[in-house]
Amino acid sequence: MADDVITLENVKIERDGGVTFIILNRPEKRNAMSPQLHMDMCDALDWAEMDDQTRVVIITGAGGNFCAGQDLKLYFRGTEDDPKLRVKARRAAHEWRWNRLSSFPKATIAMVHGYCFGGGFTPVIACDFAIAADNAVFGLSEVNWGVIPGGLVAWAVTNVLGYRDAIYYSVTGDQFTGKEAGAMKFVNKSVPLEKLREETMILARKLEAKSPAAVKYTKEALRSVRGLSKEQALDYLDAKHDALKLNDPEKGREKALKQFLDEKTFKPGLGEFKR
Ligand code: ACO
Repeated sequence: MADDVITLENVKIERDGGVTFIILNRPEKRNAMSPQLHMDMCDALDWAEMDDQTRVVIITGAGGNFCAGQDLKLYFRGTEDDPKLRVKARRAAHEWRWNRLSSFPKATIAMVHGYCFGGGFTPVIACDFAIAADNAVFGLSEVNWGVIPGGLVAWAVTNVLGYRDAIYYSVTGDQFTGKEAGAMKFVNKSVPLEKLREETMILARKLEAKSPAAVKYTKEALRSVRGLSKEQALDYLDAKHDALKLNDPEKGREKALKQFLDEKTFKPGLGEFKR
């Protein structure tokens, strides 16, 4: 591992070229999210955002599971008599799982294996892409212990699932498999467990090869236009288009136009330009 990778208590960082794995690392607790894990995830994402080598981030869990949701002992019971820690943990939990991930300037992929429960749904949804093992087990288990899918889970779930599926799984607490998650488009696709890393890396390498500025601006554009009227979207996208043209340090558009129109060395319909 490169010397500049930070060391954290509940989160592990691993690199594979421009692809950085950020790994929830409490395998003995099925990666249940403790206050410390939330704070570590904020630090890890901060680090990866600033790290020049990182082009794509993969969020996953150690020990064969993604995440068993909030740590019921440390996050809930453990903060009951410590309002300051509760505020800090809540803020960090929301910050990395939604704010940072959903506005992360580089491509993000959730790689889900094993269990993924409750609060573990939020980062899966906030990532740009999600790939699951066929036999992964998802569950909105909140109802099973008498609470609601709070902390943005219910909101996030209705962003990606159809309403019937969202309400069915939230109210019954039934589990669904990675394969079912793929069929519902909760994840982009599911693959056999033994192929999970390989398939995720194929997507990661594809994203790594793209222009970082085009990836960043495209992500921002897609996320922002969803809440806009057609008129606002047109205006916003025009401005965004111009902003990318001005701010792309690689001047990708100019290079690509030259390669297609003058040199005839590349076809934009069939792949990316030579950077
Ligand atoms: N909070 C705290 N500890 C947890 C959690 C959790 N969410 N999930 C697992 N653990 C701990 C267990 O208490 C156990 O600790 P111990 O070894 O000290 O006894 C250890 O992790 C291993 O868990 P087991 O239950 O023994 O593992 P198993 O593989 O049999 O089952 C499963 C895994 C299904 C994930 C089970 O642990 C479970 O149901 N966990 C809770 C899932 C959940 O509903 N999470 C909350 C969602 S709601 C929310 O996030 C707000």
